[in-house]
Amino acid sequence: MTLATDRIVILGAGLAALSAALRLAPRPVLVVSPGPLGHGASSAWAQGGVAAAMGQGDSPAAHAEDTMRAGAGLVDPAIARLVTGAAPDHVRHLAKLGAPFDRSPLGEYLLSREAAHGTARVVRVRGDQAGAAIMQALVAAVRATPSVQVIEGIVASGLEVQRNRVVGIRLSRASGSREITLLAPAVLLATGGSGGLYAVTTNPPAITGQGLGMAARAGAVIADPEFVQFHPTAIDSGEDPAPLATEALRGEGAHLVNARGERFMTTLHPDAELAPRDIVARAIHAQSQAGLRPALDTRTCLGPRVLDEFPAVAAACTRAGIDPMRVPIPVAAAAHYHMGGVATDAEGRTSLHGLWACGEVASTGLHGANRLASNGLLEALVFAARCAASIAEKVPATAAPPVILPPLPDAPLPDPALIRGLRLAMTAGAGVIRDADGLSSCLAEIARVEAAQPDCPALLNMTATATLIAAAAFARRESRGGHFRSDHPASDGPTGRRTRITLVEALSL
Ligand code: SIN
Repeated sequence: MTLATDRIVILGAGLAALSAALRLAPRPVLVVSPGPLGHGASSAWAQGGVAAAMGQGDSPAAHAEDTMRAGAGLVDPAIARLVTGAAPDHVRHLAKLGAPFDRSPLGEYLLSREAAHGTARVVRVRGDQAGAAIMQALVAAVRATPSVQVIEGIVASGLEVQRNRVVGIRLSRASGSREITLLAPAVLLATGGSGGLYAVTTNPPAITGQGLGMAARAGAVIADPEFVQFHPTAIDSGEDPAPLATEALRGEGAHLVNARGERFMTTLHPDAELAPRDIVARAIHAQSQAGLRPALDTRTCLGPRVLDEFPAVAAACTRAGIDPMRVPIPVAAAAHYHMGGVATDAEGRTSLHGLWACGEVASTGLHGANRLASNGLLEALVFAARCAASIAEKVPATAAPPVILPPLPDAPLPDPALIRGLRLAMTAGAGVIRDADGLSSCLAEIARVEAAQPDCPALLNMTATATLIAAAAFARRESRGGHFRSDHPASDGPTGRRTRITLVEALSL
């Protein structure tokens, strides 16, 4: 069955999706949200905040420099300057929409320090509540904007492509011949990342590389898929997804220690716990592999303040029966953010006409091989606005009635045993430490999983993304940022080459 709308279709419901919907107003848009609005997107789980040069003595140029240094030779300098230059205005815009950023009595923004930033630069909300509070403000704004139609609980399974142009989406509570195609003048992909492809992740359960997989299956060029960021301090409590212990805790002076009581980061990097995230993640991974049970000690620097000032961390500790005032918090490295994604230009345009992308699903060139902390929400804000402007310029404005979907039967769900196998294979072969043998086994397992349920679009989207990550990691015979090859531990030099690859190319590597 085929329906058509004159609304611009936005897939996803996190910060990028909702910001773009608001920026496009009063142009009619349709936001397709896989879950209830405000739930299920990574943005709401972001603890740190938004990086922006708003402190005394700071500047967008210094922010851009830190972004490029963390990105290990792969950041596009023009994009870094564009995003960091726009950051303060975007923070002020969010504040106007109602995001309750922490302020001093004089109204100055209170800033957190996070790893690899040369200064305190992260605008925050009550310690670790930034993502949740920003999303609450945006959801309220979207609900109050008549031009934005939201359909909740519907998952897109694919993109409809005609002659290299995306002309709509396929909706996936149906499968095979019963799928519904919705034709639209433009599609904005803002579906988030792919952390759920790994056995240990900080991402919400629905974040499994669906958008990237859809774009790749439609033929879009994908950039830098091998670069996955592992967060060093997910709370190691057995919960899936693993709760985050924000880097801001280390910014407050929390130490990493092991079961022998050794503060192991001091011997590994001059910035110790505030070294770039990839370095700390590999150190944590090595400690875990050696059975030395790494943990984050907040007792001296924060004591009981951790309960008040970091409520999400405190709640996760309570759920796990950990008292952070008595013992260090056990931590593990966890898949957290995908630097790679659908390749876009500075306006968010992809290689397919009619398709724009922003937020974690996109790869704009900002993050390079290793994203600087709290640049994720920032990039989502800046590129949502740029995508909206680009779409508004290209697509004629028309009035459009709300889309009325017929009742959709349930989609086939991926077999949980297959998903388990896929996640374990990705963690073992395409995780924190990689080598050629591990990546080959991982690719073989991805192919086996895909062949076991070839009629399930959600699974095919996952395996497409997994294939791109593992194949590009196999092809990059060097180590750089978040991509570490134990069989090629050196980098090819200070300036690297970005990967641009299609799914067809990845499958033929
Ligand atoms: C954190 O709060 O540690 C995460 C921030 C980020 O991933 O940017």
